Amino acid sequence: MSNLSEGKAIVLIGFMGSGKTTVGRELARRLQIPFVDLDSVIIEQAGMTIPEIFAREGEEGFRHRETQALESLYAVEGSVVATGGGVVTVEENWPLMRDLGPVVYLHARLHTALQRIGEGEGRPLANGMGRETRLGTLLELRKPLYERADLIVDTDGLTPSAVARTIIDKLQPGSHRC
Ligand code: S3P
Repeated sequence: MSNLSEGKAIVLIGFMGSGKTTVGRELARRLQIPFVDLDSVIIEQAGMTIPEIFAREGEEGFRHRETQALESLYAVEGSVVATGGGVVTVEENWPLMRDLGPVVYLHARLHTALQRIGEGEGRPLANGMGRETRLGTLLELRKPLYERADLIVDTDGLTPSAVARTIIDKLQPGSHRC
C-alpha cells in the first residue's frame, strides 16, 4: 500500500456523518499539507449548493459532477482529500481515488452518524421523513463498497484528533499495515 512518504494524497471515504471533513482538516493540520473537500470543489465548479444541484439535476447530475470534480484533482499531491459519502457508488471513481493515494474508510455506526448529521441540513439524502430507516438501508447497501478501502479506521467514540493520529500511525512507513 502507498504511504505518506511518496507525496501521495490521502483519500477519506465514509458515510455522511463519519467525520471525513473534521478528521480530514485535523489530519492535514498535523501533516502540514493542504486539505481538499470534494463537496466544496463540486459547489465551486457548479456555482450551486448541493441541495440546488440535487433539485435541478437530480442525484444523477450530482454524481456526474462528483466524478468530474474527482478527475480535476488528478494532479493533487500531498493533500488530504475528503470525499462525499456516495462517491464509492460510482465504479469509475475508484481508479481515480486510488490514483490519488491510499483510500481510508472512516467507519461510524449508524447511531453515531445520525447524531452527527442532525437534521440533515444541506444533505439532500439525509433530510425529510423516515430518514433513520432510509439512511440505515443506504449504509447497509454501501458498506461493502466502503470496505474496499486500503485502510479501515473506527471513529465511534473517538475525537477527530485521535482518529487522525491512528491514520498517521497506520500509513507511516514501517507500520505493519504498509
Ligand atoms: C452524499 C453525501 C454528502 C454529499 C451529498 C451526497 C451521499 O457528503 O456529497 O449530499 O450520497 O452520501 P457528506 O458525506 O460529506 O455528507
